[in-house]
Amino acid sequence: MTLIATLPGDGIGPEVLAAGLEVLAAVAEVDVEEHVFGGASIDAHGVALTDEVLAACRGADAVLLGAVGGPKWDTTDPRKPRPEQGLLGVRKGLGLFANLRPVRAIEALYDASPLREERIAGTDLLVVRELTGGIYFGAKTRTAQAASDLCEYSVVEIERIARVAFTAARTHVTSVDKANVLETSRLWREVVTRVHAEEFPGVELQHLLVDNAAMALVSAPNRFDVIVTENMFGDILSDEAAMITGSIGMLPSASLGEGGPGLFEPVHGSAPDIAGKAIANPLAMFLSVALMLRRGLGLEAEAGAVESAVDRALADGLRTHDLGGSATTAQATAAVLALL
Ligand code: IPM
Ligand code: MG
Repeated sequence: MTLIATLPGDGIGPEVLAAGLEVLAAVAEVDVEEHVFGGASIDAHGVALTDEVLAACRGADAVLLGAVGGPKWDTTDPRKPRPEQGLLGVRKGLGLFANLRPVRAIEALYDASPLREERIAGTDLLVVRELTGGIYFGAKTRTAQAASDLCEYSVVEIERIARVAFTAARTHVTSVDKANVLETSRLWREVVTRVHAEEFPGVELQHLLVDNAAMALVSAPNRFDVIVTENMFGDILSDEAAMITGSIGMLPSASLGEGGPGLFEPVHGSAPDIAGKAIANPLAMFLSVALMLRRGLGLEAEAGAVESAVDRALADGLRTHDLGGSATTAQATAAVLALL
């Protein structure tokens, strides 16, 4: 039997994860094993990710994650544990170097986006974010007077994420870097250019500086197909791109490695401000379940069923609080389940 490891985490994480499991159960028969993670794990064990939980994730067919973090564990003290270390630990520990964040403007939600309809209409892009390298994982130093974070990339790391991007492209890949300033970006640009020429000459390749890309994402998002970029640029640009759909509560993600279980999670965080109020938008979680069905379990028909149920629920007028409506998590879940 297929085994899903679930990591509810903190804040609205457990709320949207529970809703996601209802949707999952409606389309697939799987075993689910829950593990304490993030701030909850810091409270229980003093660390955000225990070796046992990491091992359990490794042994599962896929990992489904809620969210981590919250004011309770916020600290600037480098000696104190942080919930985010759990997330970074699973990504690194499972070798999940490729983070896929699809951003699709949904017609029923055009009015929920802060961007004008004529700008967002037709947007259907994929952010391919490198997830286990760069400044997130470089050596860190801290003294009373200074601090540093090392940004490092190897040729191999760039090659493999470039291949994921070219393989996912329908028409073209936009590689985003800061090659006018950063050495890592100059290597990035060289390697992406070579992988393109040698292995994917049929796909169009364009390079964009990250500041320019940030501008293009709001001025003409529908011109993008696949965006490939390094870890931190991808973090920032994917939040920006989320607003095309109207809310970060709409964005799913898949993190994949070379074989082994993938990790599926909504892009939104733990949203401590609405945690416990039962009003979190579960749609990003449902769409993450769909990505898990497709990319993690090879269940394409089931994935499509979940996605089209979400689409139809929105077309029928479903709006959670983040989208300017009043539907609760339970009502949104019921609306989608009714269409499955
Ligand atoms: C994300 C989040 C994480 C990241 C945080 C919570 C560590 O912002 O998944 O985008 O920066 O990768
Ligand atoms: Mg982020």
